[in-house]
Amino acid sequence: MHFDAIGRVPGDPILGLMEAYAQDTNPRKFDLGVGVYKDAQGLTPIPEAVKIAEARLVESQDTKTYIGGHGNPLFGKVINQLVLGADSKLIAAQRAGATQTPGGTGALRLAADFIAQCLPGKGVWLSNPTWPIHETIFATAGVKVSHYPYVGSDNRLDVDAMLAVLNQVPNGDVVLLHACCHNPTGFDLSHDDWQRVLDVVRSRNLLPLIDFAYQGFGDGLEQDAWSTRLFAAEVPELLITSSCSKNFGLYRDRTGALIVCAKTADKLIDIRSQLANIARNLWSTPPDHGAAVVATILADPELKARWADEVEVMRLRIAQLRSGLVEALEPHGLRERFAHIGVQRGMFSYTGLSPEQVKQLREHHSVYMVNSGRANVAGIDATRLALLAEAIASVCK
Ligand SMILES: Cc1ncc(COP(=O)(O)O)c(C=O)c1O
Repeated sequence: MHFDAIGRVPGDPILGLMEAYAQDTNPRKFDLGVGVYKDAQGLTPIPEAVKIAEARLVESQDTKTYIGGHGNPLFGKVINQLVLGADSKLIAAQRAGATQTPGGTGALRLAADFIAQCLPGKGVWLSNPTWPIHETIFATAGVKVSHYPYVGSDNRLDVDAMLAVLNQVPNGDVVLLHACCHNPTGFDLSHDDWQRVLDVVRSRNLLPLIDFAYQGFGDGLEQDAWSTRLFAAEVPELLITSSCSKNFGLYRDRTGALIVCAKTADKLIDIRSQLANIARNLWSTPPDHGAAVVATILADPELKARWADEVEVMRLRIAQLRSGLVEALEPHGLRERFAHIGVQRGMFSYTGLSPEQVKQLREHHSVYMVNSGRANVAGIDATRLALLAEAIASVCK
């Protein structure tokens, strides 16, 4: 029959981890696996600002007809401003345009197809390690994937090694950079490091693709945009993928954007015609709801301020959990060994725990994290930090 030769592929390992966690009856279990923000109650909340915007939309929306290929124009305008800054010269010069996409993943897929179709022969360079879906998205689109070093086996950011490889990248290739809150490691570049990367990008004439999935989760909404805005100011052409999943809590509403910065307003129109054409073959037009919510929030100063406060609450919780965990490890003589957890940014931490230690944590202490030793810090219950530290200490003996 037609389907007889079709085999089974393994599921996403994180989903398997979620299942194992759900089946674990230990009341003292920890879920540090799946990459979603969790509050003190262990829930992934809907921000109040989102609830208010949704209520307004229920009242005001009078049609569900298709939106255009680039999505909601107001969303495009406000997301451009959120990412590039309200005073962006590129926006004023009409050199930056946002195309609404189904989440950051959709933005990456659109970027990948754009590269494959409009920049034939150009490869993409990813950090080693990176979010595993980066690897498969570009490969699926037919873009050659290569890697630059980022975090070594000693669990340290190695900027020199990164730059040495980027210096060898063929002219014109694409380099994917995480704007902030690097997934999976949590190690971010310093301002000096970014400047050095920029120098190489310019000297090798590379096309930067900045993946911006965690705006507001690192050092703040504006601070996290620093690297993206530096590149936007200093290189004539740039791709940015923005996700509203985490900072707006809109995970399942699939809200994101691909922002293109072009050399001229005219060139941007050419590129956007290509993007609309590619998107037409991927999802035709993007889903509306999440983007309408984001547009409602960001276009209303009061609601925007309320949302920004809510993002700050999430950011501070993560920062406090990071320093809290390092402190809780102190009595075990492990403060220094895990000091990097306090330095890293965003939800994720490459803890430096080995796959064997991760296994022991899971089997003996019901602490669930990815085999690479990546922990979702936002999943920690702050009232049980001492217990988690004890478990970690017991596998570090
Ligand atoms: C680095 C990175 N990029 C992009 C995304 C895509 O996010 P989404 O498609 O959920 O908006 C994620 C989500 O986990 C991510 O970690």
